[in-house]
Amino acid sequence: MSVWKVSGGKKLFGDIRIQGSKNAVLPIMAAAIITGCETELLNCPQLSDVEAAMAILRHLGCKAERDGDTVWIDSRGMNRTDIPHDLMREMRSSVIFLGAILARAHEAALSYPGGCELGARPIDLHLEALRSLGAEISEQGGSLYCRDKGLKGARINLSFPSVGATENAMLAACGAEGETVITNAAKEPEIIDLQDFLRKLGAEITGAGSSTITISGFVPQEKIGHRVMTDRIVSATALCCTASAGGCVTLKGVVPAYFETVTSVLESMGCEIERRSTSVKITSDGKLHAPRPIVTRPYPGFPTDAQPLLMAASLKAAGTTVFTENIFENRYRHVPELLRFGADISVVGRVAVVTGVNELIAAPVTAADLRGGAALITAALGARGLTTVYDTGHVVRGYDDFDKMLLSLGADISYDPETLASVV
Ligand code: UD1
Repeated sequence: MSVWKVSGGKKLFGDIRIQGSKNAVLPIMAAAIITGCETELLNCPQLSDVEAAMAILRHLGCKAERDGDTVWIDSRGMNRTDIPHDLMREMRSSVIFLGAILARAHEAALSYPGGCELGARPIDLHLEALRSLGAEISEQGGSLYCRDKGLKGARINLSFPSVGATENAMLAACGAEGETVITNAAKEPEIIDLQDFLRKLGAEITGAGSSTITISGFVPQEKIGHRVMTDRIVSATALCCTASAGGCVTLKGVVPAYFETVTSVLESMGCEIERRSTSVKITSDGKLHAPRPIVTRPYPGFPTDAQPLLMAASLKAAGTTVFTENIFENRYRHVPELLRFGADISVVGRVAVVTGVNELIAAPVTAADLRGGAALITAALGARGLTTVYDTGHVVRGYDDFDKMLLSLGADISYDPETLASVV
């Protein structure tokens, strides 16, 4: 089991470049198979989920290679339409390949992705969207079998602005004849990055970032290049870590508007914020006060992925912080672990109430999911003593060299990929 050891109480100082976005690169990698073409993707984070997507591409008969932060995909030789269970299981969001495979080959067989640590995570909206375009989908023995006799453009009204369902609908619509209009679409910045990529691939597509996306045609291109957007949740993480530990950190190469909801909450807690066109500087003396209630909502609301991180940053904030988690039913798994630091948190249903304490004391803690694990490190940076964070495999799914980033800012953190867990 991999372990991080964090000695708290060190302020963070310096400049950092933020990695490419995990949630943007995965649908883009799936999109690279819509037509047979060669794709060069820059700013790809080195993450196990990206490796898993490359493994799926190779299984499908494509070439996928990495050199540093650049990934090359050649999808001209794609010769399969199935994704077996062991590859699906590696990465829940591999369901995003469904729309792309259908657009290219008009048949697909995938093992059902199932739930995850955040809850049941159904895919009914994905399937409904694909059915609207003419896909016939059956579910048998834990697998999904899909085929179509030529996808036809349609009006797709999502009953909830699901990020994944919006992306799957966009990908499949690229292989459909006629116009597709997606209403109540997700507005997340990653959808805009996907639209930018699809345009380079040859799609006539407009509206990403608003609630209506229109795909009206496709002229395939042979070779394309794209730079993946920077990760807004990693940006939010770096801000919360600095708020928790204290210090002064500048995030470079970012789009400040994409994580403004998090920045403005930290500002209201007493952090000093300086916004520039592609950078954000945060200064914190570690003495914070509780912000207004935090309610997670689809973009442009407060991101669910940043809820555990902000909670970790609010543990010592004077007063009471109230969180309402509206997106995932099981997103407070970090709370019992944060309590080990001496935090005061109570949870009733979707609501968590944090009462600020004077001090956090280091403790052995275990990561239960990706952002919850990052939240434990955020808390540890502001705690007195040496914290051991177990099961950090969850965290490296979303953070490229998280420990190196924090080390470069002066944190006292070490990573041991092999430590065996003692009783925690
Ligand atoms: C994406 C992000 C994830 C983020 C989430 C919300 C990726 C790889 N992951 O996940 O980090 O936390 O957006 O911003 O981009 N739902 C249904 N039926 C469906 C689809 C979703 O009921 O068919 C529900 C989900 O269970 C969840 C909610 O809708 O409760 C939001 O899910 P969705 O927006 O689809 O999130 P993901 O795309 O899975």
